[in-house]
Order: sequence, then C-alpha cells, then structure tokens
Amino acid sequence: MKPTTSPKTYRVKSFGCQMNVYDGERMAEMLGEQGITPAPEGEEADLVVLNTCHIREKAAEKVYSDIGRLTKAGREAGKEPLIAVAGCVAQAEGEEIMKRSPAVSMVVGPQAYHRLPEMLDKAVKGERATDTDMPAIAKFAALPERRRTNPASFLTVQEGCDKFCTYCVVPYTRGAEISRPYSDLVTEAKKLVDAGAKEITLLGQNVSAWSGEDEKGHGVGLAGLIRDLAKVEGLARIRYTTSHPADMDDDLIAAHGEIDKLMPFLHLPVQAGSDRVLKAMNRSHTAESYLRLLERFRAARPDLALSGDFIVGFPGETDAEFEETLALVDEVKYAQAFSFKYSPRPGTPAATMEGQVAKEVMDERLQRLQAALNRDQLAFNEASVGKTCEVLVERKGKHAGQWLGKSPWLQSVWFEGDAQIGDLVQAELVEAGPKSLAGKLRETVAA
Ligand code: 5AD
Ligand code: SF4
Repeated sequence: MKPTTSPKTYRVKSFGCQMNVYDGERMAEMLGEQGITPAPEGEEADLVVLNTCHIREKAAEKVYSDIGRLTKAGREAGKEPLIAVAGCVAQAEGEEIMKRSPAVSMVVGPQAYHRLPEMLDKAVKGERATDTDMPAIAKFAALPERRRTNPASFLTVQEGCDKFCTYCVVPYTRGAEISRPYSDLVTEAKKLVDAGAKEITLLGQNVSAWSGEDEKGHGVGLAGLIRDLAKVEGLARIRYTTSHPADMDDDLIAAHGEIDKLMPFLHLPVQAGSDRVLKAMNRSHTAESYLRLLERFRAARPDLALSGDFIVGFPGETDAEFEETLALVDEVKYAQAFSFKYSPRPGTPAATMEGQVAKEVMDERLQRLQAALNRDQLAFNEASVGKTCEVLVERKGKHAGQWLGKSPWLQSVWFEGDAQIGDLVQAELVEAGPKSLAGKLRETVAA
C-alpha cells in the first residue's frame, strides 16, 4: 500500500439484511464526523466501504467482483480509492480478503466498525489493518449521536444469534446474542424522531430475544420496549424484525392487539414445511406449532399481514417434503415472503450433510415456491383495494408529482398529488399489482 491523501468523499455500499443497512448508516455518520462527505451521484468516491453479506454464496461473491470493478475504475480515472471491506464477509474471510485483494486497505467486522476512523488514519499512511474483534456492545457507545435519518428508520436493538440453525453463518459472523440497554434505545429512538423519523423498525437477528431493564429496574422483553417506545411523541409507527418462532411470547402477541402504533405486520420465518427438514435445520418448531402460533397472532390482530423466509433444497429434502412447504404456504397465505435456494456455508453443519440437492432440482422447487408466493402476494394486494389507509411517504416516484410510501401492511403504495417526504397521508388503494398498489390521495394527517 502506498501512502495516500486523506479522503474527501466516501460511499458506503450495503448488501444483505436491514441490520447491514443500519450499520451502513452509522458508518456514514462516523465518516461525516471526520469531515468526509458523501460522493456525489455518478462520481467515484475517495473512500469506498463495502458493507458485505455472507448469508449465501452469491452474496459473498459480490465483494470480490466489486473490488475488481472499483480498482479498474480507479485506475482508469488515475486515482484508486481507499477500500474498506466491512460486514459479515469481513468477519468470516478477513485474512483471505487481505491476501487475495491487495487493493483493500481495511477489513472491519460488524462488531468493530466504530474503530473505522483509527483504521482510516493508518490506511492514509499506507498501512493495512484488519479488525474483526467482537466487543459487541462497546461499538454502540463509541458511535456518534444520530442526527439525520429517513422517515422510516432502523434501530438495531439486538445483535447476534444463539439459535445455530444448521445452515446459517450468522451465529459465527455476528456472534452470540446481545441486547442493547433499554435506556440507550429510548434515547436513540427519540433522537431519530427529532431527526425526522416517523416510523422505527426495531432490528435484530433474533429481535424477539431482546431483553432489558426499564428505568424502574423492571425486567422487560420486546413487547415492553415497544409499549414504551409507543409513548415517544412524534413516532407514529413501530415495526420489528426478524423473529424466531421459539421466542414469541404472550406479551408480544397481546401487544399486536393493544398498541395502535405497532403496525399489523409480522415477518416470521418458517424455512420449510416438513418436520423432518425442520429438525435437521435445528429449528425448534414444527409446521403445526408454527401455524398455531400464527393463529394466536391473527386472533390478537385479525388484519395482520404475514411474511416469511424459505429455503428450498436443504440437504436431504425430498420432493414429498418440498410439497409440505407448498402446503404450508397455501395454508398461511403470506402477504409477502423471501425464498432462497440452499447455499452451503463453510463451517456450518449442513454444509457437510449427506444428500446435497442438485442445482436443477433447487431451481425447479424455487420457481414453484415463488409462483405460489407471488400468487398469494397479488391476492393480498387485490383484497386491499377499496381500503383507505395511512401511507408514510418515503420518497419521490419515477414520474414528476408521484410519491412512494408504505401502507401499514408494508405494501408499497404510489400516488400523485400534494405531499412531501415524511408525510403521513390517507390514501384509498385503487389498483393492485404484484409488488405495489396505486393509491388516491385523501387528506394529509400530519407532516
Ligand atoms: N442458504 C440459503 N438461505 C439461507 N438463509 C440463511 N442461511 C442460508 C443458507 N445457507 C436464509 C434464511 C434466513 C434468511 C435471512 O436467509 O431463510 O431466514
Ligand atoms: Fe440464522 Fe437461525 Fe439465527 Fe436466523 S435464527 S440468524 S436463520 S441461526
């Protein structure tokens, strides 16, 4: 590495889950505090942070192709950017990245990115640095205060996972479950609202395992935290993700029926419909116990929209077992869902299991599953037509005068008319598409 001048502009590129989006925003804030500004659209940045995802092979490969693209663009422009690799690929493959990609000067794991400014000082002097320590909670205390945000913001309340599903790298890359302290979360939520947030999504790999102590020293779970955040003035909507069926307690179910600000939406991954596969995945639920749990949520909040995650082609999955996934989908009728082909991850138990499923079989299963999920999503959207609901305006649409926002059920709604980003408007849902709905503006509730 040659010494270089201090970077003036940065770009943070986040891949993967919403937790990475949150981390990316916090890194951007930190770089802002160092006097570095976001690179204008279309211009190469002096410093690029690739905030990577390791959950599936395809996601992890992106980092190497991105490094190649950046180095080439930099060479052509006569100035190569400083490159930092952050996120879960950094955690899992830090040393390999350093060996394989001389253009990378910083490798920083998801629990260590608060040290990015120190690493940057070294990088400017031509030194390369890797930091994949896992001090967990220390990171949050070392980050600058929240000063800017979007109308729909993320707030990481919990990190890591102790579930050890046999296909998943998260317990290795993000570490053991930790909950951020109650008071820090209330403070950060208030700051986000002061900065313009109308909606906050509480994030955690296993968010329903969050626990803490309120200001009176009483133990509280996620439902208690949501109840208290609902008292924050100016905050209109609360969501949370991602939950594990094993950690959903009565209090959280009840909260869905009692707290208006808690949106009628639940993302609850099931992964598969076969009990044998679920057991091999080390999921602690069965298809039946999952369905019964959903029934209880729906009893508390009848208009609840459901979302899930699915993996097809887990080692040993037979055709008949895959059919059980389709049967479960038919029964639940998801409003939306994410589905993936199984991807063997190094170091996870499933990667060395017998009965790895052929790619063509996975392709076919994924196609069939997605056709069923798309059918249900469209049906859910069509059933919403005629309703008038609140839409939080998040950004401008493609055409002039068009706005894009989210319904309480997390559907994308676009409409035309007098509005601005951050408005909560009343819109009648007039037309349904597979991924979004058209709305007609009624009245603005609050700016
Ligand atoms: N292969 C495919 N999908 C995976 N997921 C996690 N690990 C893997 C893997 N090895 C999916 C799960 C999880 C979501 C975030 O990613 O469905 O819920
Ligand atoms: Fe991964 Fe399972 Fe933990 Fe989710 S619950 S992060 S799938 S180990």
